[in-house]
Amino acid sequence: MSAPNKSYDPVEVETLKPEEIERMRDEALAAFAAADSLDALHEAKVAHTGPASPLALANREIGALPPHAKAEAGKRVGQARGAVNKGLAARQTELEAERDARVLVEEAVDVTLPYDRVPAGARHPLTTMMERVADVFVAMGYEVAEGPEAEAEWFNFDALNFLPDHPARQMQDTFFVQGPKGTEESGSGVVLRTHTSPVQARALLDRELPVYIVCPGRVFRTDELDATHTPVFHQIELLAVDEGLTMADLKGTLDHMVQALFGEDMKTRLRPNYFPFTEPSAEMDMLCYVCKGESVGNPDRPCRTCSSEGWIELGGCGMVNPRVLTACGVDPEKYSGFAFGFGIERMLMFRHNVEDMRDMVEGDVRFTRPFGMEI
Ligand code: PHE
Repeated sequence: MSAPNKSYDPVEVETLKPEEIERMRDEALAAFAAADSLDALHEAKVAHTGPASPLALANREIGALPPHAKAEAGKRVGQARGAVNKGLAARQTELEAERDARVLVEEAVDVTLPYDRVPAGARHPLTTMMERVADVFVAMGYEVAEGPEAEAEWFNFDALNFLPDHPARQMQDTFFVQGPKGTEESGSGVVLRTHTSPVQARALLDRELPVYIVCPGRVFRTDELDATHTPVFHQIELLAVDEGLTMADLKGTLDHMVQALFGEDMKTRLRPNYFPFTEPSAEMDMLCYVCKGESVGNPDRPCRTCSSEGWIELGGCGMVNPRVLTACGVDPEKYSGFAFGFGIERMLMFRHNVEDMRDMVEGDVRFTRPFGMEI
């Protein structure tokens, strides 16, 4: 730096003229006021208070002034820098307060909002339906029984009086865990149960008499999945074995069930049929709970639920065949019993107008959700 120049006049040094210093100060304050974010303010701060800012450069000029001029120029620049720093601090505080207020609004968490907005899911209507049917019988003193899904061929067929050449034993109907009996692949003697009736034999072997059981469960048949068939479906089985039970008890029990499930004015009817494990056997129908039979022969009042038949087919039933009782060590001279079984999918289809069986299998929550969380 050169030696002090006695004739040096700060008024003549362009950057130290009072109006120049004022301009620098005002420009800095205007830039701070215009900064609308903390980032923008930081840029303005660097530009107007940093080492390369006009005021910092002006400040440097002071050193070169003669002593008498130094004090005045120093005071002027110092005051301007003080005002700039104050303005900067004030704007900084303002913008920080704005940011804090905005964050409080934008990131607010309302702890009073209900917490169950997460979908709670829904039980599958098949499960609900099975429990609902089972409950009707539990209320009458029946016990819920279960059996394995991979079942011994003996329980699924032999104990139930299916002869070795019965067509239901064929591979077209039955999933064999290995091969069917009598074929080269045979040997395991294990099938996926084709109905819940093997639980009848298990219950008779396991329990003391009398036996009153209800058995909901999954069963398997070699059907293709389509709108009306599924290879995996559900049945509910009922078995009562006691002294003196008759077909009237079976009929009364069926009527009670449909009344409990579909309404007081409901009833059932039996049509002759054949099952190897019941004798006599019947097909059971229930009155159509929608038209109550009034659509029959009445073209003005067609019924979609029963196709104007007046009755809906439920499943099979009958008096337990004495051969089954004997196979399970029960004396048919002393005891008699009745049994029935029906498909839950079918009941769900007509009760809730489900038109496609696949909807019940695919596990899409859009299907189950409308059935709600009924327990
Ligand atoms: N198990 C039979 C079926 O799957 C139904 C049935 C059960 C029939 C009990 C009579 C008695 O078709």
